[in-house]
Amino acid sequence: MKITIINGGPRKNGATNKILIKINENIHKESPEAEINHINLIDLHPAYCLGCQSCYKTGKCVITTDNMEEIHDMLEQSDGIVFGSPTYSCNVSGLFKVFHSRVHMTDEQLLFNKPCVLVTTCEITGMNKTLSLMKERVLTAGGYVSGRIGIKIPLNENPINEENENKIDSVTKKFVKDIRRNRKPFFERFYTYIAINIFFKPFVMKNQDQHEYVIQSWKDKGLIK
Ligand SMILES: Cc1cc2nc3c(=O)[nH]c(=O)nc-3n(C[C@H](O)[C@H](O)[C@H](O)COP(=O)(O)O)c2cc1C
Repeated sequence: MKITIINGGPRKNGATNKILIKINENIHKESPEAEINHINLIDLHPAYCLGCQSCYKTGKCVITTDNMEEIHDMLEQSDGIVFGSPTYSCNVSGLFKVFHSRVHMTDEQLLFNKPCVLVTTCEITGMNKTLSLMKERVLTAGGYVSGRIGIKIPLNENPINEENENKIDSVTKKFVKDIRRNRKPFFERFYTYIAINIFFKPFVMKNQDQHEYVIQSWKDKGLIK
């Protein structure tokens, strides 16, 4: 079982990463054989997406000065993914957004059939909005949300108390169960079908030469013939 944990918070000792570390430990307890990659995006200094759309054609980003293509491949090979970001201005962090744009996950359905856990923290308000935005990105990239953790906490306080620990434990247990079951729920399968056939496909097929890799990856996943 391969799992990737993405921390989009710039503070490795912050509340968001403390929750992610707890999830990492719990997964290890549930499934000692699991191979877990815990990525702190801040260490990778991801460059901004240039908007060239070359990845639609080639499946690769033209920027080779950071390790974002390795992260892309890691996500592709993962059975489940945990996405974490602190709430900044009722949204994900800029760091998380840069990562998201760089790993070209939506068009090529990189999260196809993968269960995902979403984590955010905030001080006052906005975490539900952040979780909804993250959920929409997961669904649109072919994945589904196995569990969500939103925790309101004053700056520099440890979020790992008894109540939150119980929540983190139950989300992790369900996540590992969903990976083992390996079956995307009906609503999310329907969502992917509509997204591909009604929205993406007509556009992509009109510009086939610009979307060679996207089309190939849909074929590989059995989304189109
Ligand atoms: C730039 C910035 C924007 C923020 N925006 C919000 C916000 O919209 N709502 C909120 O409740 N907290 C907001 N916060 C507080 C953080 O969400 C909160 O402290 C979070 O737990 C920090 O996560 P970390 O400890 O992992 O760094 C903001 C913090 C920063 C630095």
